[in-house]
Amino acid sequence: MIIGVPREVKPGEQRVARTPAGVRALVEAGHRVIVERDAGAGSSIRDEEYTREQATAASVAEVWAQADLILKVKEPIAEEYPRMRPGQILFTYLHLAAVPELARALQAADVIAIAYETVQRPDGSLPLLAPMSEVAGRLAVQEGAFYLAKAHGGRGILLAGVPGVPPGNVAVLGAGTVGVNAARIALGLGADVSILDINLDRLRAVDDLFHGRVITLMSNSFNVDQVLRRTDLLVGAVLVAGARAPVLVTKEMVATMKEGSVIVDVAVDQGGSIETIHPTTLLDPIYVVSGVVHYGVANMPALVPRTSTFALTNATLPYVLELAGRGVQAAVRRNPALARGANVWRGRIVHPAVAHALGERATALEAVLE
Ligand SMILES: NC(=O)c1ccc[n+]([C@@H]2O[C@H](COP(=O)([O-])OP(=O)(O)OC[C@H]3O[C@@H](n4cnc5c(N)ncnc54)[C@H](O)[C@@H]3O)[C@@H](O)[C@H]2O)c1
Repeated sequence: MIIGVPREVKPGEQRVARTPAGVRALVEAGHRVIVERDAGAGSSIRDEEYTREQATAASVAEVWAQADLILKVKEPIAEEYPRMRPGQILFTYLHLAAVPELARALQAADVIAIAYETVQRPDGSLPLLAPMSEVAGRLAVQEGAFYLAKAHGGRGILLAGVPGVPPGNVAVLGAGTVGVNAARIALGLGADVSILDINLDRLRAVDDLFHGRVITLMSNSFNVDQVLRRTDLLVGAVLVAGARAPVLVTKEMVATMKEGSVIVDVAVDQGGSIETIHPTTLLDPIYVVSGVVHYGVANMPALVPRTSTFALTNATLPYVLELAGRGVQAAVRRNPALARGANVWRGRIVHPAVAHALGERATALEAVLE
């Protein structure tokens, strides 16, 4: 197959859909890879690093005109719509439920669009979302530690403490991928860490993983209330799949927090679980409510595009090899996780949740396969 990797053009996006290691794996499997010039620049990957692995460096027009399979990170934006060709396969983050006009553009372009975020294993896990949750969870504590510094608006706390001075207190709401990764970094820094979840099995897993060094608490209003009074850094990491994040911390509760403490609500992309949080940007990440620093960056992985690129492409590569190696029809027939990823198939919406968000009925994937 001919596999194309365009440069990302959505404002602020610095990631790229393939690394040199991924190019080598695809070339070794017998495919041809075309990478747009400068596609890796935002992730500090030079064109020569791709061409050394036998990729062809090309213009954006050449990539879209020649590739059977286009690999991207973000959804196509309007300037890219006319570049799509009938029958072309597009594999990228799409988030179609939020952008109906893109769904229509994909239908009109007659492409096969497979979304990273809906690739789902039979156990319900989302293997192409997890790497970005790992990045965001780890980053949440790194960013929180930064804003706890006095000069950055915080209380003036070193999370590790020093001999004779106790460490800072970190509370994490939600013990999923983001939460566990946040707890890991907080523990590594030497902080005093608590984690709350409504799922006791998640808390058991945390207890095992960290050998009892992270305090696990059932998530309920009483416990959240207690924890907040001594927290220096609160990380929001709650998710109820397919729904708005539940508000666990009211504005009255925020007012009980220590002056100069910091909230990083990673779940802000789903509305957030702290009543006073609203989305912010990497250029203007924080604001203060009731003396508490609020950090609500909705695209945290963009702060570390190089790490995020490698994390994302490690996860997507096996699916790319399968799509390219078997062809898209055989690949989705064989791999149910990949089949769940199919969103738009040559004019038809084939993902139930996407169709629902667009106010129509999905066409069964079986019906569009030859
Ligand atoms: N801001 C960003 O840049 C960024 C990046 C990646 C992920 N996210 C977001 O972070 C959030 C968490 O993602 P994840 O991958 O960790 O999800 P996950 O499904 O792995 O974990 C969510 C956890 O929340 C728990 N939970 C649900 N209701 C709860 C409650 N009332 N109290 C406490 N815990 C509760 C669940 O039991 C689960 O363990 C999502 O909204 C995701 O979109 C944001």
